[in-house]
Amino acid sequence: MVNTKVTLCGLEMDNPIIPASGTFGFGYEFAELYDINCLGTFSFKGTTRDPRFGNPTPRIAECPEGMLNAVGLQNPGVDAVIANELPKLATCFHKPVMANVSGFSLEEYVTTCEKLGDIDSIGWIEVNISCPNVHGGGMSFGTSAEAAAEVTKAVRAVTKKPLIIKLSPNVTDIASIAKACEAAGADGISLINTLMGMRIDLRRRKPLLANKTGGYSGPAIKPVAVRMVYQVYDAVKIPIVGMGGVSTAEDVIEMMLAGATAVEVGAANLVNPYACRDIIADLPRVMEKYNIQSLTDIIGAAH
Ligand SMILES: Cc1cc2nc3c(=O)[nH]c(=O)nc-3n(C[C@H](O)[C@H](O)[C@H](O)COP(=O)(O)O)c2cc1C
Repeated sequence: MVNTKVTLCGLEMDNPIIPASGTFGFGYEFAELYDINCLGTFSFKGTTRDPRFGNPTPRIAECPEGMLNAVGLQNPGVDAVIANELPKLATCFHKPVMANVSGFSLEEYVTTCEKLGDIDSIGWIEVNISCPNVHGGGMSFGTSAEAAAEVTKAVRAVTKKPLIIKLSPNVTDIASIAKACEAAGADGISLINTLMGMRIDLRRRKPLLANKTGGYSGPAIKPVAVRMVYQVYDAVKIPIVGMGGVSTAEDVIEMMLAGATAVEVGAANLVNPYACRDIIADLPRVMEKYNIQSLTDIIGAAH
């Protein structure tokens, strides 16, 4: 029997598989398809202090080996998440969940994290400082080490929950930003968010997305993500949640060898809603194939 358990920031998970924020709603939508308690956990839709309608449409464009999205953090706001979404989730998911938080100002990050920090069912708070699809917030905090540290320090002061800072790949030196977050009190680092991209409609001679630019994700970005996980593993001592283009159990092993303790799966859920369930079912076979007894043993083993 192989052992798929991992421990992320002090919390044990049955396996390292986490549907990525923005691709799994608030979970209960997927619970109609399968028992989502097979997951390690999942990261719920990026939540902000105030409700957000999101960007104008079209906000999705298909690409070879991936997709562009410019959803723009559509969500009902933290109070409605606590009042409506989490109680619905509690009926079908019985493990600690990962809260994903975004904001447009330090105060907004702080208020949202403070409110979510009081909720028992939340195991980790993943702070997204890397959304490329909103203006005046999100990614602007994640592209400078100083700003990233400032957000980390501010939210650290208001919650004792494990704090995982989610970084942007749209930077030249990801390791220095991860280090700044670690020094400011982060318990973990998540990476990567989407790569900023664009497509043009040939007939209209205009950008395909109403937002003009969007975030590129899916299998094509996996080598970039593996490289960044590898670099950040060398730079920090706190655990890494790796993601970007993961769609198979082999991809999960690759991310873990690079240095990830847990692995998020994003765009793959939109291609196949059973993707995470299928990856979890396939993990033991792939572990046996590569002679892996326990997943914990291979974290960072490529170094
Ligand atoms: C439609 C869509 C919505 C997303 N929304 C969020 C979000 O609200 N918060 C966040 O931190 N990341 C969000 N992401 C980024 C993913 O969580 C993930 O970091 C990224 O897509 C890379 O993983 P993948 O290649 O497996 O999709 C979103 C991605 C997609 C495709």
